[in-house]
Amino acid sequence: MFVGLDIGTSSVKAVLLDENQSHIGSATSGLSVERPHPSWSEQDPGSWWTACETVMDDLAARFPAEIAGVRGIGLSGHMHGATLLGADDRPLRPCILWNDGRSAKQCEELERIEPKFLTLGGNRVMPGFTAPKLQWVRENEPDIFAKVAKVLLPKDYVRLKLTGDHVGDMSDSAGTLWLDVAARDWSDDLLAATGLSREHMPRLVEGSESSGQLRKALCDRWGMASAPVVAGGGGDNAASACGVGAVEPGSAFVSLGTSGVLFVTNDRFSPNVESAVHAFCHAVPDTWHQMGVILSATDSLNWLARTLGEEPESLIGALGAVSGPSDVMFLPYLGGERTPHNDVKIRAGFVGVGHETDKCALTHAVLDGVAFALKDCMEALSAAGTKVSRVTAVGGGSRSTVWLEIIATLLDVIIDVPADGDFGASLGAARLGQAAAEGRTSGVFTPPPMHLQIEPRHDIQDDYREAYQRWRSLYPALKQAGF
Ligand code: XUL
Repeated sequence: MFVGLDIGTSSVKAVLLDENQSHIGSATSGLSVERPHPSWSEQDPGSWWTACETVMDDLAARFPAEIAGVRGIGLSGHMHGATLLGADDRPLRPCILWNDGRSAKQCEELERIEPKFLTLGGNRVMPGFTAPKLQWVRENEPDIFAKVAKVLLPKDYVRLKLTGDHVGDMSDSAGTLWLDVAARDWSDDLLAATGLSREHMPRLVEGSESSGQLRKALCDRWGMASAPVVAGGGGDNAASACGVGAVEPGSAFVSLGTSGVLFVTNDRFSPNVESAVHAFCHAVPDTWHQMGVILSATDSLNWLARTLGEEPESLIGALGAVSGPSDVMFLPYLGGERTPHNDVKIRAGFVGVGHETDKCALTHAVLDGVAFALKDCMEALSAAGTKVSRVTAVGGGSRSTVWLEIIATLLDVIIDVPADGDFGASLGAARLGQAAAEGRTSGVFTPPPMHLQIEPRHDIQDDYREAYQRWRSLYPALKQAGF
C-alpha cells in the first residue's frame, strides 16, 4: 500500500493505492490563502499539517487494514513557497506563496548582481520563485531574516513533521532558484546572492529515493505495522507528470488548476530564459522538464463565478458547446503573468463588452482567454525547440470537455483525459512513494487509464488562430496604457 499526499493551494489531498496502483480511497481537507496586501499571497504552514492530520486520520479510520500495510508515502506540493524556520524548526512568519508578487524589485536586482541565476539557475528571476522572496524578507523584515535557520518548501515542511528530517527533492528545489539545475546540487554562488549558505538548505534526494521514515508516534496513531519510507516526492507539476506517466522525454501534460501549466519532459537541462520558460529537474533521476506557467487558470473562472454570485460549474454548464471564439476577449492576468511576459504588474481585462454581453459570453471569454495564454506557453516552448503533439490533461478544470476542446484546437494537440483527472499530483506522489519503497523507477510511472481523447476542432481552428493573433496584440496595448 502507498499513500500520496499533495499539499495543493486550495486543499490537501491524500490518495491510497494498493500494490497494483489501484485506487483504494482518498480524502481532502480545504486550505485558505491570505492576501493581507494587494499582490501578496500567504498561507499558514500549520494549516498544511492540520489538513494532513485530518486526511490521514480519515483514511486510517475508513481503511484501517490497508493503512496498516502502507510501505511508502510520497509528497507533492505547490512549488516555490518560502517557509522560514527558526532554530527550533518553528515557522517565523506565514509562508510566502508561488503566486505572491511582492518581490519584483528584488528580482531585477538579483538578475543584475548575479547573472548565474539565468545560466546555472536556468530561469528568469520571477517573483513567484523562492530566492527573491528571501531577498525581500532580508530587506523588509531583517529581524526575521536574521533568525532564519532553514528555508523549506511547503511539502518539505510537511516532511519535517512526518519524519523529523530537513530534506528536499530535486524538482521542487530547482524552483527555489538556488539550485545548479544541470548539476542537481545547491549553488553556493546563487545562495550567497541572497545572503544564505548550504547550512540554510535541506539535504537533497531524488524524488523517487527515500528521504527518511515515518516517525514512530505517527505510525502508532495511524496503525501502521512498520514505519513506511517517505520518498523525496516532487513539486506538484513534476509529481503530476509522474501521475500521468509523463517521465519519458517528449511526454507532456496540460494542467488546469489554480495556475495553468504546459509541461514537457526533457532528457537534458533545456532553459529558454527569453520567453520566461521554466526549466527544472524532474522528480526521477537524470531527467529534466520545461514548463510554461500561467498564474490564473481555474482561478480566473473562480473569480468570475464569485463576482457573478455563481458556481464555476453552473457557468460552464450554462455555456454548453461553443461554435467558435468569443466576441469578447479576456486576458487572465488577475495576479500578473509568468510565461511569456514575466510581468507581475500587468492586470486582467475584458475587451469588446457590449449591451448584449451576458454571463455566458463572459464565461466563454474566460475559457478562451486561459486557452490563449496556454497557446502563448506553447509558442515559448516551440521557441526553445520543443515539439508537442499530444498532452494529458490534469487538474480540476480538466473536467470541462468544452474547455479542453478549445485548448486542443488552439494548441493543435490531441488531449488525453485520465479517468481520474483530479488526482494527478497526489497519484504521482503515491507512485514516488512506491518507487522509494521498492527501489525502482521502471514500470512505476505508466499512463493511467484514459476515459476520453479530445481532438482539435478543425471546423473552428482557423477562427481560433485568427482570434489568437488579435488577442496577442492586446497585452502590449494594455501595457502601454499602464495596466
Ligand atoms: C509552478 C507554479 C505553480 C505552483 C502551484 O512554477 O508556481 O504551478 O506549483 O501549483
